[in-house]
Amino acid sequence: MKRIIDLIEEQVKAAFENSGYDASFGNVNVSNRPDLCQYQCNGAMAAAKTYHKAPVMIAGDVVERLKDNVMFEKIDAVAPGFINIILSPAYIAEYMNSMAKDERFGCPEEENKKKIVIDYGGPNVAKPLHVGHLRSAIIGESIKRIARFMGNDVIGDVHLGDWGLQIGLIITELKTRKPELCYFDESFTGEYPEEAPFTMSELEEIYPYASGYSKTHKDYLSAAQQATADLQAGNRGYLALWNHIIEVSVADIKKNYEKLNVSFELWKKESDVQKYIPDMVKAMKDGGFAYESDGALVVDVKEETDTKEMPPCIILKSNGATNYETTDLATIIERRKLFDAKKLIYVVDKRQALHFDQVFRCARKTGLVDDDIELNFVGFGTMNGKDGKPFKTRDGGVLRLETLISDINEAVYERIMSNRQMAEEEAREVAGKVGLAAIKYGDLSNQASKDYVFDVDRFTSFEGNTGPYILYSIVRIKSVLAKYQETGHNIADADTIIAPTVKSETDLMLELLKFGDVIVQAYKDNAPHKICQYIYEMADAFNRFYHENKIMGEENEERQKSLIALLVLVKNVLEKCIDLLGFDAPEKM
Ligand code: ARG
Repeated sequence: MKRIIDLIEEQVKAAFENSGYDASFGNVNVSNRPDLCQYQCNGAMAAAKTYHKAPVMIAGDVVERLKDNVMFEKIDAVAPGFINIILSPAYIAEYMNSMAKDERFGCPEEENKKKIVIDYGGPNVAKPLHVGHLRSAIIGESIKRIARFMGNDVIGDVHLGDWGLQIGLIITELKTRKPELCYFDESFTGEYPEEAPFTMSELEEIYPYASGYSKTHKDYLSAAQQATADLQAGNRGYLALWNHIIEVSVADIKKNYEKLNVSFELWKKESDVQKYIPDMVKAMKDGGFAYESDGALVVDVKEETDTKEMPPCIILKSNGATNYETTDLATIIERRKLFDAKKLIYVVDKRQALHFDQVFRCARKTGLVDDDIELNFVGFGTMNGKDGKPFKTRDGGVLRLETLISDINEAVYERIMSNRQMAEEEAREVAGKVGLAAIKYGDLSNQASKDYVFDVDRFTSFEGNTGPYILYSIVRIKSVLAKYQETGHNIADADTIIAPTVKSETDLMLELLKFGDVIVQAYKDNAPHKICQYIYEMADAFNRFYHENKIMGEENEERQKSLIALLVLVKNVLEKCIDLLGFDAPEKM
């Protein structure tokens, strides 16, 4: 099914062409002056330069050919050369009916479907998931769902950080605390125990301690760096400990992502790609790209047009160790090899922008990816507290994701219980859904690259631009539909939408018409916030419609059925949108 905007455009383009102008001037947009018209074409202004003719005359020629078209109620040429369009109510209703029958609600699929790998989540083993990981998980999950809805074959990879200094720090600290463990005994040749010598909560205490200590104690830091190098060189005892760390952490990480309704097809780790590194390094040297600089092996990635600092990409450090860049380059090799991915999307803190710039440039320059492979970096901003500083616990510590989620759920629960009566168990379940919507919508409604303030009171409010407000609107529709059925009607019989007669009804339909366009834009720009903005406007349009029209009291049966069919469509479209954002609505709230 075609988007409405494409259908209008076809007509307008044909009219340009038939009037002797190039069809490319017939682009149509949603009007930015909804008080004047619904859609507009500004092409006559550009055409005027080509044809040396007054724009309003060109617009007049085009309009002349369209004024009797059944699609339009009104189409005008307006000075200095705008073409203003108002659709005919019957045509709108016709489109509504086809939308209702289409499981994609009029949104076209991607023409050039491809294999996409989305790298998001990016937690590090041994460190608890904290709010910093929240954004990547929430934004990445939504981008994944949108890309998949567009018809692509999409793989989400959690890309665990398991190969860096954090492991060396933990090994070093464990060695200090429990030197007697067999992992540290070089003469030990037996099987290592199956059970890890620590629990998740011990790990959570060990890592920050070791990390803090290493900042003030140089020797300790070098020991940790050495332990990291030894691990990477294959020290048996360290490898066994590393396996324990992964096992214990991954169980905890999975539990947290489940709570967020975030899931991954792939649980790959940084360590998995180390095997590609030797060949990659050799190829970069042989190709004349990598050279030695201050003992390190580097590839220049600076371009003449750069206005910012662009240091070379370091492939091997002076001690021969690999680093974050090396791993990310090798990961590109793996994703091309295993999945033949045509597009790679990285959802990572925007403070890593330079790193990805270097890696992408290096990958292109050294031929790891061809020109037709897309590499997208979606850098997100920081989640701040009300004080404008990165979100922390009350005592200034790093807030665990688990705690944040349960705090939000508690706040929503209180709100629900203070307003209405609901059994405790049901209220808890509803609070879980509403809480998740509050967190995710609070995040996704901001453009990803911007910092935002995490405000529990605002995010959990049932009014304003919030997740709970959207859910509340959906629940309101569900309750109207339930009432309709309770009064002896069958929703399935309400299957025809007739031409709108009042403004709030037309306005609601105009919002529905935007669906396909909004999703395509959100997909092209990796921008879930466009869907948030859309459903907020739709919820508003629905609530105005709801207050201005008597649905249950409507006496004309045909019109009542049409209003019900319209509500079903609004509900389905809103539910599709929140599914693309990664949450769902309860039955009641
Ligand atoms: N683990 C990294 C971090 O916590 C994020 C990984 C992002 N993905 C990547 N391919 N580098 O900073």
